[in-house]
Amino acid sequence: GKPLIPYDQIGAETLSNLVDAFYSRVSAHPQLAPIFPDDLTETARKQKQFLTQYLGGPNIYSAEHGHPRLKARHHPFPITPARAQAWLECMSEAMDEVGLSGQFRETFFNRLVLTAHHMVNDYDSEE
Ligand code: HEM
Repeated sequence: GKPLIPYDQIGAETLSNLVDAFYSRVSAHPQLAPIFPDDLTETARKQKQFLTQYLGGPNIYSAEHGHPRLKARHHPFPITPARAQAWLECMSEAMDEVGLSGQFRETFFNRLVLTAHHMVNDYDSEE
């Protein structure tokens, strides 16, 4: 049959709920909250756009913001290995909250592990 596009597997509604569940954890996380804006509305909106295209849906992030250049866009923020780990923990808990499981979750999460590690740009300010 036709190959399943991950974006179609998760669906827009669950993806939106996932991003909201994720940023509510980020905003409460002692290592993450200080580097994020207080109001995460716009951050969450961009992340929904980004993850839509990351999962093979329409390229709505690039249509509005241009090429993601994710590593460059993260340069202003000190992303330590501990913060990458914290980001992934918030995402894993958010996946639990919205009920992602099985092979889909494993494949999606493993991609995020690679992307999160790629974002690390600060190896010096570990506490
Ligand atoms: C933006 C932190 C990993 C995707 C941001 C911002 C921060 C941040 C502080 C700026 C928020 C704002 O000003 O609105 C981190 C940390 C990470 C991480 C600590 C740990 C490794 C990731 C990963 C992805 C990602 C793995 C993608 C899967 C994005 C996107 C934006 C963003 C799409 C918005 C970029 C824009 O302004 O257009 N991140 N991030 N981040 N992050 Fe991350």
